[in-house]
Amino acid sequence: MKYPDAEKIEQLKKEINEHNYRYYVLDTPTISDAQYDRLLKDLTTLEQSHPELITLDSPTQRVGAAPSKTFNPATHREPLLSLDNALSLEEALAFEKRIHDRLKNNNILTYTCEPKMDGLAVNLTYIQGLLTRAATRGDGYTGEDITLNIRTLPSVPLRLRTNTPPAYLEVRGEVYMPKKAFLALNIEAERHGEKTFANPRNAAAGSLRQLDPRITAKRHLAIFCYGMGYYEGKLALPSQHALLQQLKDWGFPVCPDIVTIQGIEHCIQFFNTIEKKRKKLPYEIDGVVYKVDDFKLQQILGFVSRAPRFAIAHKFPAQEETTEVIAVDFQVGRTGTLTPVARLKPVAVGGVIVSNATLHNLDELTRKDIRVHDTVIIRRAGDVIPEIVGRILEKRPPSTQKITLPKHCPVCHADVIQTEGEAAARCSGGLFCSAQRKEAIKHFASRKAMDIDGLGDKIIDQLVEKNLIHSVADLYHLTLSQLVSLERFADKSAQNLIDAIEKSKQTSLARFLYALGIREVGEATAALLAQHFLSLDTLMQADSATLQQVSDIGPVVATHIRIFFQQAHNQTIIKQLLKAGIHWETPKQNTHLPLQNQRFVITGTLSFYTREEATQLLQSLGAKVSSSVSAKTSYLVVGENPGSKLTQAQKWNVPLLSEQQLRDMLQQGMT
Ligand code: IVH
Repeated sequence: MKYPDAEKIEQLKKEINEHNYRYYVLDTPTISDAQYDRLLKDLTTLEQSHPELITLDSPTQRVGAAPSKTFNPATHREPLLSLDNALSLEEALAFEKRIHDRLKNNNILTYTCEPKMDGLAVNLTYIQGLLTRAATRGDGYTGEDITLNIRTLPSVPLRLRTNTPPAYLEVRGEVYMPKKAFLALNIEAERHGEKTFANPRNAAAGSLRQLDPRITAKRHLAIFCYGMGYYEGKLALPSQHALLQQLKDWGFPVCPDIVTIQGIEHCIQFFNTIEKKRKKLPYEIDGVVYKVDDFKLQQILGFVSRAPRFAIAHKFPAQEETTEVIAVDFQVGRTGTLTPVARLKPVAVGGVIVSNATLHNLDELTRKDIRVHDTVIIRRAGDVIPEIVGRILEKRPPSTQKITLPKHCPVCHADVIQTEGEAAARCSGGLFCSAQRKEAIKHFASRKAMDIDGLGDKIIDQLVEKNLIHSVADLYHLTLSQLVSLERFADKSAQNLIDAIEKSKQTSLARFLYALGIREVGEATAALLAQHFLSLDTLMQADSATLQQVSDIGPVVATHIRIFFQQAHNQTIIKQLLKAGIHWETPKQNTHLPLQNQRFVITGTLSFYTREEATQLLQSLGAKVSSSVSAKTSYLVVGENPGSKLTQAQKWNVPLLSEQQLRDMLQQGMT
């Protein structure tokens, strides 16, 4: 007889559903994932031997339907409305004032404040407690039938958790993709060379609109429910917060960060608090919905067109906006690198007007395929430079063209060259190109180079454009009257700049070498070169083999150095600079090499130096730096989040150095 099995099946279903409820609604699971899987497996096995006992609400029946060809239209019994937005504090206050005016009293109002989930609204229909249909919002009246996809969300109850369900019930909620799932999905997509999603909302939308529910099932979508539509049956709910409790009791996940409080001021306080927490929340939100809690008041307040008077969405300033690409230009950098930059129709993103966004390099331009007149999504996260997340293909006008690399430099018209194996394309104009010249001068004057205080980018642009300077050497011949002729330049600031330029003449060989802007010669390499060669002349004469005697200089950097010093115009400029009075003390030869024969290993992230800098500095004092710890290691430098090398060092009893101790040691060694 199958009755004992039938009972067992019922029992297992109940048990599994109860664990779902504990996990997804109460957030207090009482069994491990493995135990849960065991129950599910037991149920599957039993059902396999009694296929006639499989019901639609069995937890084993979430995935499995065959892909469909289209989504059928699904009309909601009660329409899904939208919300008015409040985009500022004033608009939020005005919302309460409107309510007070309409109610003709100033009674304190109770609100339920719900984080506004950035996902997709869905309408779930339960007939006699059984999930029978799930639909997207669509135009508010008719959406698309996505039942098979929604069934794959483990947190959506297939049956209400009650013995006395309403005859008919519409539940409204927001399907979203948790941030973690979104990141994992994009990493996976990138690994397979597939398209990534711009944000969790798009990812959720794309996942719900899959014709094959097996794909949706893998996307880790979640839901928070917040409302009810049409229903038939006895229900006496007095308020929004009572409704949320009822939804939880029925087995629906409700956002855990909802509060019920009094007065709009407290709503705004909550808004500010949650905005601060926003980054850390596991889900994406774009504001807070304030709802007058009392259903009687809601009824009195009613609706204007399709939005309720009793609720409003107080939105965070947008971090993402869409706008149009007006042009794609190529900017020329110090070493001639061409960087594509999108010129945009100005748009406010997170409170800042954005009209340019870098596309970083050609590869990125190709990958993102941004074209002129494309509508693009712009994102500004915190203080970072705005970036183009992607383009909206559906909005692309016909006959747009792929952006291609220009053949000639947009500034000086010299040929553009792209060396094989190098991602960057460069203008071949060198210092004849005014763009490269400007950048070279900016670098020359920068803090770690000649450190010319007050010589900002805008001033350099003007100096070059007005032909007051052609090279860095010309800086040293600028006159007060020339500077005063520049925009926004007073006598005093002009004199200050002249003084700063004068002061920069007293420098060090290392700074001077760095300031020249030789390709791949950063601060640390410049210091090593100065230390090794001691004189500029010797360095300028050095051949590749000699250059490579300097620790960490390989054939590529050696070639860059050689080419730089061989070029006649570089030689001329150096002569002019020296003639103008730039001078330094000959670096002291480090004959005693205080760290000679000492072996260092570095683990973790350093905050003051980069690893490369620390390595070069240690090497300049004679130390050896290796990548693995052994009994011969003299010190392990421990940065933040150290790796397994730390355990190794402890095993070998290797002394540990903090970054500060390393700095002290280097300081001592260098003086
Ligand atoms: S209530 C009549 N509550 O926002 C009220 N909506 O701008 C209807 N949303 O279509 C909506 N979180 O997709 C409500 N806690 C929340 C919400 C929320 C997100 C979305 C929903 C709606 C849109 C309206």
